[in-house]
Amino acid sequence: MTAASLELAAEGGRTLHSAIDADSPLSIQGMTVSYGEKPAVFSVDAAFPRESMAAIIGPNGAGKSTLLKAVLGIIPTLSGKVSVFGEPVEKARRRIAYVPQRASVDWDFPTRVIDVVMMGLYRELGLLHFETRRHRDMACDCLERVGMANFAHRQIGQLSGGQQQRVFLARALAQDADLYLLDEPFAGVDATTEKAIIHVLKGLKEENRTVVCVHHDLATVTEYFDRVLLINVRKVADGPVDTTFTAENLQTTYGGRLATAQIDQLQLSLA
Ligand SMILES: Nc1ncnc2c1ncn2[C@@H]1O[C@H](COP(=O)(O)OP(=O)(O)OP(=O)(O)O)[C@@H](O)[C@H]1O
Ligand SMILES: [Mg+2]
Repeated sequence: MTAASLELAAEGGRTLHSAIDADSPLSIQGMTVSYGEKPAVFSVDAAFPRESMAAIIGPNGAGKSTLLKAVLGIIPTLSGKVSVFGEPVEKARRRIAYVPQRASVDWDFPTRVIDVVMMGLYRELGLLHFETRRHRDMACDCLERVGMANFAHRQIGQLSGGQQQRVFLARALAQDADLYLLDEPFAGVDATTEKAIIHVLKGLKEENRTVVCVHHDLATVTEYFDRVLLINVRKVADGPVDTTFTAENLQTTYGGRLATAQIDQLQLSLA
């Protein structure tokens, strides 16, 4: 497929799905992203309502991380419109906190944990980066919330993967954002850490913020999330978990890769 035909097809997608709430925390229309000839994300429309916790689900290579990066403007899109609380994403950037997929970050830079969290306070610190005792306390409080207060003075590179994940969540908390975009926050963390993270995320939702997570573990979708977006390059479905997280939609999203037995198991827990 050529870039021109991709754009044309994406244009069609936009007109097909136009009724998206203009003020929603995040709305994506006709998003198409391509790294080469084949699109990684094709003509995706999705909207995420306020005070919700949404999972983005799909197999490896489905375009989940690409979608988040395109939303943030980190990578270019072939077509698509993104609005955040009714504004173009460039204007609303300060209202968004993003925690990237762990493997994609260079963890070797020589920075202490507390300084990583302080980076999240850039809005408070201003251009001069003038730190006060209050800022340090705020950063410590965010570390406390993710159970990492005792590691404040360690080098980030000396932490385990799961501990680093929690520190980056603490940095996102320090940003005091309205929309949280997290790329697989539970990947490679132990059960206790997972519980701690979900507790923090549910707390954000209760504070009227919107949380969107790329998520891999199908068994916890119904327990953790109230909305779901299923994608495999194209959008398969999005909406409330109880009506959207269905065996049929999972089969379409994962194809032969998800064994029927596995879906049956989920169906049992869904019932
Ligand atoms: N920088 C890049 N250059 C070229 N191709 C890329 C690049 N990043 C991702 N891709 C390709 O785009 C597709 C989507 O990748 P993406 O990382 O968005 O998938 P994903 O759904 O997040 O997968 P995973 O579950 O493994 O994290 C894949 O086929 C991947 O190989
Ligand atoms: Mg990914």
